[in-house]
Amino acid sequence: MRIPIIAGNWKMHKTVAEAVAFVNQVKDQLPPADQLQTALAAPTLSLVPMVQAAAGSPLKVMAENCYYQDEGAYTGETSPYALYQAGIHHVILGHSERRNYFHEDDELINKKVKAALRNGLCPIVCCDDTMARRIAADDKIHWAVNRILADLKGLNEADICNVTVAYEPSWAIGSGQSADSDQAEEGCYLIRQTINDMYGEDVANNVRILYGGSVTPANARAMMAKSDIDGVLVGTDSLDPRTFLEIVNH
Ligand code: G3P
Repeated sequence: MRIPIIAGNWKMHKTVAEAVAFVNQVKDQLPPADQLQTALAAPTLSLVPMVQAAAGSPLKVMAENCYYQDEGAYTGETSPYALYQAGIHHVILGHSERRNYFHEDDELINKKVKAALRNGLCPIVCCDDTMARRIAADDKIHWAVNRILADLKGLNEADICNVTVAYEPSWAIGSGQSADSDQAEEGCYLIRQTINDMYGEDVANNVRILYGGSVTPANARAMMAKSDIDGVLVGTDSLDPRTFLEIVNH
C-alpha cells in the first residue's frame, strides 16, 4: 500500500519569516499522515525554523539539495548528516534546475543519493524529460532506463524502499503547460517498469513515484487518480497556502 504524497518545492522563494508563517497557516488543516503525506521543500535557511513550527503536525519539511560528503572542507555545501541531525529527513535530489543550472550529472546525483541514504535521509530523486524525448518513442524508453539506472546505481533493495522518484518533464516545469494525466502516467509507468527490471515486482510496487510540472488545483485530482502516480511535486502552486491546501484537498 503506497501512501500518496503531496509535496511542495519552494525553490529559492520565501524568507524565513514567510516560511514559518506559511507552516503556521497550514499545519492544522492537513490530513493524517497515514492517509496522505504532506511535505514542503524549502531553502536551507528556513528548514530548522520550519521544523520547529511544524512539530506535532503531519507536515514534513524537506531539503532541496545536499552534498555527497557527510562533512568536510566544502565551502557553501549542506551536509546530509547535519540535515538529519536537525530533524530534516527528506531531500530532493537531481531536480532539473540542479542538472541544468548547476551542471549536476547522473554520477554526482548517484553519489548524493547514496550519501542521503547513508545518513538516514529519504531522497526524492527527480527524473527530467524533454519534449524531444517525449516525441521520439524509443528515446523515451531509453531515457527512463538510463536515467534510473544511473541515478540509482548500486542501491540495494532496502535502500530503494526509502527512495521516491519524481517524473518531471522539463517542458512542464514552471511553464503552465502540465503534461496531461495520460502522459504523466506513462512517464511514471516507465520508471516503475525500470525499477521492476532492476529489483523485481515487490520492490517496484512499493516505490512511490510522483509527477511534477505545472501541477495546479485543477489538474491534481486527475494526476492522483492514475495507478502509477503516487503523488505530486508542486512548484509554483505550493507558494500560496490557499492553492497548496486546495491541491492537498483535491
Ligand atoms: O519540483 C517541482 C517543480 O519543478 C514544478 O514546478 O512550478 O511547474 O509546479 P512548477
